[in-house]
Amino acid sequence: MLDKANKDLRSIFSKFATGVTAVTFKDSSGLNLGITVNSYTSLSLDPPLILWCLDKDSDLYEEITNLDNYIINFLSEEQRDIANSLAQKNDHILNEDQFISIDQGLVIKDSIGWLSCSKNQIIDSGDHSILIADVNDSKIIEGYPLIFWGSDYRSLLR
Ligand SMILES: Cc1cc2nc3c(=O)[nH]c(=O)nc-3n(C[C@H](O)[C@H](O)[C@H](O)COP(=O)(O)O)c2cc1C
Repeated sequence: MLDKANKDLRSIFSKFATGVTAVTFKDSSGLNLGITVNSYTSLSLDPPLILWCLDKDSDLYEEITNLDNYIINFLSEEQRDIANSLAQKNDHILNEDQFISIDQGLVIKDSIGWLSCSKNQIIDSGDHSILIADVNDSKIIEGYPLIFWGSDYRSLLR
């Protein structure tokens, strides 16, 4: 695609407001990792399914597409720092004080909710893959969401 057309597309895509999630997991060498994701979408209630999209160029692509299970954490408006840090290339390691480890996986502290997910289907599409996952467990926690709009983080109420 031409550069200008690509820039225009980025601009119009950025005008759609989303929440911000962090997908967390233990990698094959035992590291506790997370990646910032705003392509998360609820997909189906019965059966319970969600989807998100992963860039094929991500250094984590092989690791993530081979995962059986992971957690999707819905970040709060107080968690811009975590969203920023987990969006850095080559720097996806979670700090010990950022998460708790439970039977279902790694849960980011003070997120406003989480879903425990397991791999269902991966669909190749353009420069991303669509990852469809079963929802096995979930928890709602109080708080307001972190919003991403116009290439920047926002709060819902301001
Ligand atoms: C707000 C926000 C949302 C993002 N959403 C996605 C996403 O849905 N899918 C994705 O593959 N990368 C997404 N990214 C990019 C990754 O978080 C991260 O920057 C990228 O994976 C870094 O490259 P690496 O994976 O090679 O380390 C997002 C980044 C930001 C800041």
